[in-house]
Amino acid sequence: MGFFDFMTEDIAIDLGTANTLIIHNDKVVIDSPSIVARDRVSGKIIAVGKEASMMQGKTHENIKTIRPLKDGVIADFDASEKMISMLIKSIPALKKRMFTPALRMVVCIPSGITEVEMRAVKESCERVNGKEVYLIHEPMAAAIGIGIDIMQPKGNMIVDIGGGTTEIAVIALGGIVCDKSVKIAGDVFTNDIVYYMRTQHNLFVGESTAEKIKIQVGAAIEDLETPPEDMSVQGRDLLTGKPKQVSVSYREIAKALDKSIQRVEDAVMETLSQTPPELAADIYNTGIYLAGGGSMLRGLDKRISQKTDLPVYIAEDPLRAVVRGTGMALKNLSRFKSVLIK
Ligand SMILES: Nc1ncnc2c1ncn2[C@@H]1O[C@H](COP(=O)(O)OP(=O)(O)O)[C@@H](O)[C@H]1O
Ligand SMILES: [Mg+2]
Repeated sequence: MGFFDFMTEDIAIDLGTANTLIIHNDKVVIDSPSIVARDRVSGKIIAVGKEASMMQGKTHENIKTIRPLKDGVIADFDASEKMISMLIKSIPALKKRMFTPALRMVVCIPSGITEVEMRAVKESCERVNGKEVYLIHEPMAAAIGIGIDIMQPKGNMIVDIGGGTTEIAVIALGGIVCDKSVKIAGDVFTNDIVYYMRTQHNLFVGESTAEKIKIQVGAAIEDLETPPEDMSVQGRDLLTGKPKQVSVSYREIAKALDKSIQRVEDAVMETLSQTPPELAADIYNTGIYLAGGGSMLRGLDKRISQKTDLPVYIAEDPLRAVVRGTGMALKNLSRFKSVLIK
C-alpha cells in the first residue's frame, strides 16, 4: 500500500451513448446526458451534460452540440475526453478538493467499441488522475446490476436497449457466450417519430419534442391494457410555415415504431438461434431480462415475450441497471476480475 493510497477515491462510470452516470461512495452522483457543446470559433467546450442538452436544437452557427458516443462508437475523441473529465470533476465530493485525488475506476463501455476506442477511453480516464482503470462490457455490467449471478454455469439473456445501440448477450460462467449489437435503439425510435409526424401530420418537430412524445405516449403494441392519454404536440406546419398543434395517440406511435421494433426482435431471435442448446434450455427457464431506457417503452416486454414465447422481465430502474452493476464490480474487484478489461 502506497503512502497516497488513503487518498484514492473509487468511482464507477456508465459511459452511455445517451446518458453518463457515475457512482461514488455507493451513490449515483452524476446522471447526465452524454452531450457537449462546443464553440466553433474558439474550439472550446463551453458546456457538458444537462446544460449542453438544453442547447440542443437551439444553437446558432457558432455553437455546436455533439453527442460523442452517439452510435455506440466514439465519433469525436476530443469531445468525449472533455466530457469524461468535466463530468468526473463535477462530482460534488471531489469538486471541493483542491486537486483531483487518485482514482480507481471501473468504466462501462458500449460493446461495439473498438480496441482503439477502448484505449482512448482508458487514456482519457488516466489523464484525470485515474491510477487504476478497468473497463467492463455493457451487457455484463447490466447483468450484474440486475442481480444475476453471472459466475454460475447457467445461461442468462440480457437485452440492453440504450440510446444508440441495443446490446443482446447470453452470459454464463462470467463470460459472454454470444452477443449482438445493433444500432436500433432509442435514437432510432425518436427519429421514427420525427418522420411520422412529418409525413402523417405535416408537422415538423425537433428531436427533443419527438423524444417527449416517445416517453409520454410511446408504445410497442397497439392494445395496451392501461393506455396513456393522447398528447398535444406543437411544431411547425410544413405547408403554411406557421406553428401548429396536433393530438397524437399511443396507437399512432406504435405504428410509427413498428418496423424498428421488428428489427430489435429479429436481433433477439438471431441471438437465441446462435445460443448453444444447454444454455438455451436455461433461458427457457429463466427468460429474458431487459435493461436500458428503451426497455421502458410501453408494451415492449409483452411484444418480445410474444415473439420469443419466453417470459420477459424489465430490470428495476432500467436506466440505472448498468451503472449499478459497474458499481458492484468496482466494490468486488477481485471477484469480478475475470470480466474486467485492464
Ligand atoms: N420512458 C421511456 N420510454 C421510452 N424510451 C425511454 C424512456 N425513458 C428513456 N428512454 C430512452 O432511453 C434512451 C436512453 O437510455 P440509456 O439506457 O440511458 O442509453 P445509453 O446507455 O445508450 O446511454 C434514450 O433514447 C431515451 O429516449
Ligand atoms: Mg447504457
